[in-house]
Amino acid sequence: MASWRGLPHRAIMSSSRISFFEVEILDCKTKQQLCFLDKVEPNHTVNDIKLMFHKCYPQWYPARQSIRLDPKGRSLKDEEVLRELPVGTTATLYFRDLGPQIGWTMVFLTEYAGPLFVYFLFYFRMPFFYGLAKAFTSSPHSVVHLACCCHSFHYIKRLIETIFVHRFSHGTMPLKSIVKNCFYYWGFAAWLAYYINHPLYTPPSYGKKQISLSMIMFLICETGNFSIHIALSNLKIDGSRSRRYPFPTRNPFTWLFFFVSCPNYTYEVGSWISFTVMTQCVPVGLFTLIGFIQMTIWAKEKHHRYIREFKDYPRIRMSIIPFLL
Ligand SMILES: NC(=O)c1ccc[n+]([C@@H]2O[C@H](COP(=O)([O-])OP(=O)(O)OC[C@H]3O[C@@H](n4cnc5c(N)ncnc54)[C@H](OP(=O)(O)O)[C@@H]3O)[C@@H](O)[C@H]2O)c1
Repeated sequence: MASWRGLPHRAIMSSSRISFFEVEILDCKTKQQLCFLDKVEPNHTVNDIKLMFHKCYPQWYPARQSIRLDPKGRSLKDEEVLRELPVGTTATLYFRDLGPQIGWTMVFLTEYAGPLFVYFLFYFRMPFFYGLAKAFTSSPHSVVHLACCCHSFHYIKRLIETIFVHRFSHGTMPLKSIVKNCFYYWGFAAWLAYYINHPLYTPPSYGKKQISLSMIMFLICETGNFSIHIALSNLKIDGSRSRRYPFPTRNPFTWLFFFVSCPNYTYEVGSWISFTVMTQCVPVGLFTLIGFIQMTIWAKEKHHRYIREFKDYPRIRMSIIPFLL
């Protein structure tokens, strides 16, 4: 057990007027006391407490720490203030190690650059994939080239958004999640690319009509997805960390906000459905289905969070599919 006493006492010592808090931090799993902080100022935030805890345990830097009121409850936000928490002047908090962390922007760059690169290996038919006879040959079907353009466009757009559009509120992500996510994105990209670029690939049944229609739908959905990301980013334009609920803007692509809470997911699923129709390829359909299931789960969670948080939240909105889901 460690104890921390070194904080400069800004509010110092006019003893009777200012009461300090005592904070004990227990291990989430074992309930053993890890640290006892005496004289913590009431207006200290969770982040301040994390910094003090870090002084006792240098291996657990603040981004690795999850501090909770209840061992099984949610992690407290960094900006939450001690005096506003439902605790007495002796507060018991629980610590959980989130494991090594990696920067959020780095996470997305790794996740999205991978599929871009992996897809090209199959598109250019590297010798080890389809045999030496087919190495570096090119498909005679125009849809294969179009699919490569669409796939690359999608991930280049995501990379650009990660760098220039999104304003993520979480600084870091657990290292083990990035391994899982990369496995998902890179693995699926390889699987799709293998079939689409295969020398025996057959183009879609309804030919040019099917390809052009799905191409138009794909571009509409990509534009919609981008518009929603801009609208979400603009919610934080003043640097505010307080959550607001998103709303339609003058851009018609954002009008989907009238009907769903997460139109960025709706458009994302639309893009992948279009890509499935364009390539008429089963693995693409499976990737779309899994993505749809995952995004529906997230959209429902976020939708219910909005309903809980905002009393005036529009009732007509659904999570991801207008009037349905
Ligand atoms: N194909 C697939 O399987 C798949 C799966 C998931 C995502 N994606 C794609 O990746 C994109 C990003 O995914 P995501 O899960 O990170 O989307 P998200 O949760 O909607 O977040 C996107 C950005 O918007 C911000 N944001 C969301 N709601 C906000 C609000 N009410 N107020 C202020 N800011 C808000 C987020 O900030 P915070 O950091 O503060 O939340 C984040 O910067 C998706 O739109 C989709 O295109 C694809």
